Amino acid sequence: MGILGKLFYFKGNGDFKRSRKYEQELNKCIRCGYCYELCPLFKSFYWESDTPRGKLLLIYGMITGEIKPTQKIVDKIFQCFYCKNCSDNCSAGVPITDILTDARADLIEQGFDVEGTIAKIDEDLCSICHICESICKYEALEVKKDKEGKEKMTVDKIECRGCGLCMAACPTGAISQKEGCEITLPELHNKVKEIIKEDKKKLIVFACNWSVFPGMQLSESPSLVKTPYGIIVSMCSGRVAPELVLDAIEEGAWGVMVAGCPPEECDHDGNYKTRRRLVLLKNVIKELGIDPKRIRLEWFSTGESAKLSKAIDDYVKELDKIGPIKKIEKRKIGG
Ligand code: FES
Repeated sequence: MGILGKLFYFKGNGDFKRSRKYEQELNKCIRCGYCYELCPLFKSFYWESDTPRGKLLLIYGMITGEIKPTQKIVDKIFQCFYCKNCSDNCSAGVPITDILTDARADLIEQGFDVEGTIAKIDEDLCSICHICESICKYEALEVKKDKEGKEKMTVDKIECRGCGLCMAACPTGAISQKEGCEITLPELHNKVKEIIKEDKKKLIVFACNWSVFPGMQLSESPSLVKTPYGIIVSMCSGRVAPELVLDAIEEGAWGVMVAGCPPEECDHDGNYKTRRRLVLLKNVIKELGIDPKRIRLEWFSTGESAKLSKAIDDYVKELDKIGPIKKIEKRKIGG
């Protein structure tokens, strides 16, 4: 640590009382880079400062006083989906996401208020129905009273994992996230359109980043460009809002597969919600005269790439047999 750093450190460059205990752990990072190979944030931005390794360096700099926390730096610390691919792949065993959580708590205590990848509530649209509150496993959503005694839904910026389950479940569309990470509803809608219209894919696969996407990256599958399916990665299968599935069908997909973690393996408990949601959606499309086989739910654990490839190939073959959705069916979706 340089002299200036020591000066700031001892004078207390902000209070990092929680994260400072990780100073030794932070020193263990050998910058090997395994942490960001499967990082969804890095896939979106490609900046070193967006990688888990980069964030650890920033935190180390802040707790030793060599870096002054700024709004921009702090925003990076709050950009994480807690998929834990980084911690699981860290060759030095650094508890990356635990460090991030404590750094967040320290920074909030210092008065920082940032957007990050945290859920945000539009108060004008929120009807305080409590649905989001009831499904958040991290208890990050809570109704609180403001100074005037008016109730409003609030998000705990330390606990929110940015998984998006609350967004998929909100009946009024009052919850959103920062654009740019390909996880907001409009971004996912655009992706669906792009894949079907421009890339002319017949099957849309919504793949859970947690378990399915790493497996997919490791798989021997041929290049996505040549396959009849397009993949959209979501942070959890529970993030796949019903309108996204219907959207894909309406845009011309022959079928939609939602691929998530097996029961008991989803960190957000989102897959149970997905299962219920897809049963309902199948009934809805059946009522519209569309074969419910056009929606499929599959479970995969990380590394089950062969199972994943086979499931996709089998489904594509099945869709080839039933063909595209007839125009009359599509008209019914639009009402
Ligand atoms: Fe994989 Fe939820 S994290 S389905």
